[in-house]
Amino acid sequence: MKIFSFKIQHSRTVKAALGRNMEDIPALFPELFKSADKLCLVTGSDAPPSLRARALALFPEGKKPRAYFWLPPSEKAKTLEQAGELASFLFENGFSRSSMIIAAGGGAVTDLAGFAASIYMRGVTWISVPTTFLAQIDAGLGGKTAVNLGGAKNIAGTFHQPALAVCDTAFLDSLPHAELRSGAGELVKYALIGPGALRGIVEKNLSKTLAGDKAALTACVSACAAYKLKLVAKDERDETGLRERLNLGHTAGHAFEAMAGGRLPHGEAVARGLRFALIASREQGLLGRTDFKKLNGLIDALRLPPATAVRRDFRQFLGLVSRDKKARGARNRFILVEGPGRLHPAEDLKTTVLKKAFQGALK
Ligand SMILES: NC(=O)c1ccc[n+]([C@@H]2O[C@H](COP(=O)([O-])OP(=O)(O)OC[C@H]3O[C@@H](n4cnc5c(N)ncnc54)[C@H](O)[C@@H]3O)[C@@H](O)[C@H]2O)c1
Repeated sequence: MKIFSFKIQHSRTVKAALGRNMEDIPALFPELFKSADKLCLVTGSDAPPSLRARALALFPEGKKPRAYFWLPPSEKAKTLEQAGELASFLFENGFSRSSMIIAAGGGAVTDLAGFAASIYMRGVTWISVPTTFLAQIDAGLGGKTAVNLGGAKNIAGTFHQPALAVCDTAFLDSLPHAELRSGAGELVKYALIGPGALRGIVEKNLSKTLAGDKAALTACVSACAAYKLKLVAKDERDETGLRERLNLGHTAGHAFEAMAGGRLPHGEAVARGLRFALIASREQGLLGRTDFKKLNGLIDALRLPPATAVRRDFRQFLGLVSRDKKARGARNRFILVEGPGRLHPAEDLKTTVLKKAFQGALK
């Protein structure tokens, strides 16, 4: 197990425990738990029993009172109503400003529980315990919390760093292949945005992670989580362009997710969003053929199933990308790729370029 400590600029210090088969987290971080008067463990109602058992191994029953709250499955958890229900539950059960929320689940659970932690009594401490591959390398880290509104992703949210992120890859043993593949969609993103060493780790382990190889998953979680937290520590609020790298593929990806009405896993949507970015970059003359082939090959390696759930409605797509919160007032704004690790934000791309990328991404 590796333990990291990141001082987030203008914010708190975030600790991260990354590894496999951890035990008794309160014993490892006594300072953090000393002042908590009560704990609330939040998880998804569709989580397998093994997830709850592992969460209890990490946070064994102690002397502190605790409560349990189950969220509806996946994206159904990410609503303002659910955040309100969790906050009301905490209030009814006597939770105070000194209480702590422990969110154990996929990105939907950590997004919603983190959001509720940020509004309850104007902010209580929370611990992020991501349990999917995708959430361990991305969603469960970085302090962005959110709910969806009006069918669009992450429209209301806050920045509220967890005091601690615990990425224990033993959780991934129960993950179905489709969820491993979804996580691998975000993994490919790291190969496109990261430095050579990180790209090397992803390239070496990508196919093994798809097969559920424990060592490969642990190597990728450690490398990607540490890289993400390093970026977040320097630019928590997307102000200098550093953190923006992590959004590669997400503008188109979020549109695809919305156009699938919740039937496209987030990581698959991101993988298609990455392909969108690569095609748009090639069409803009930014990305040469050799690099295109090499980077697109990583997406091919995911063997994505056909995106039948996504409506082929280019006008709807244009509407969604223009309303994306990352558009910053432009008609559209995308992060494009000049080569491995070299990114280039671009605004107001021509419709012909967007259409070609849209069609290619959904092939
Ligand atoms: N806040 C961020 O920075 C950030 C970044 C990327 C993605 N996200 C968000 O994360 C969400 C996607 O997260 P996700 O891919 O984890 O999906 P998810 O949270 O919907 O979980 C997928 C499924 O996996 C199940 N599951 C969770 N852990 C399991 C385990 N160990 N074994 C078996 N099943 C398990 C869940 O119950 C659920 O059914 C999206 O809402 C996305 O917007 C947030």
